[in-house]
Amino acid sequence: METIKVSHPLIEHKLAILRDKKTGTKEFRELISEITLFLCYEAMKDAKLKTVEVETPITKAKAQMIDEKEYVFVPIIRAGTGMIDGIVTMIPNAKIGHIGLYRDEETLKPVRYYYKMPSDIANKTAIIIDPMLATGGSGMDAITLLKEDGVKNIKFLSIIAAPEGLKKMSEAHPDVQIYCAAIDEKLNDIGYIVPGLGDAGDRIFGTV
Ligand code: PRP
Ligand code: URA
Repeated sequence: METIKVSHPLIEHKLAILRDKKTGTKEFRELISEITLFLCYEAMKDAKLKTVEVETPITKAKAQMIDEKEYVFVPIIRAGTGMIDGIVTMIPNAKIGHIGLYRDEETLKPVRYYYKMPSDIANKTAIIIDPMLATGGSGMDAITLLKEDGVKNIKFLSIIAAPEGLKKMSEAHPDVQIYCAAIDEKLNDIGYIVPGLGDAGDRIFGTV
């Protein structure tokens, strides 16, 4: 597996505000979207282009476009849905599948409750989005569900990842590329990322 830490001074700046416990819901949501733009930009670097012809005000020209239908973006509900805005800003016709998982507070294991993908998912590249990769349990389960559906090309975008989760995911799914904006220090004894940003879902949806 390949982990790609996407580095840029603007990302560091936005992460600093995102992590701050004083940052309110509106700004938190905006920052999640903005950082997602950068992750999406990086993850689409190897996108295939098709040649099209356009007519400029001057003449006909050959130009290149991404085939948006080749991709499906898959937020893990809830917190992953906070990243959809950033994705559709970059890829307005993006197809979106949803996977519903929550972590059992005692066991930290993911519990499945929803799965809905566009048709012919098996032939598309699936890009899972979830701001937090902690133990890696939710991410690994989402990847397993997509593989069971026949998906062969999978990428994973997270804003903050813990080394423990990255290690587990790389062992379980060495074929999946992970893009993240930060790799933090560790997990605490209740499975939260340190220093992290707290509970991403609660901060996005104001349910703290
Ligand atoms: C959070 C987060 C990930 C998961 C990461 O979701 O959005 O899905 O935890 O933890 P893991 O790597 O240890 O599995 P949570 O279960 O809190 O649900 P929510 O998004 O509905 O708040
Ligand atoms: N989920 C979160 O939202 N935050 C963490 O630190 C870990 C899991």
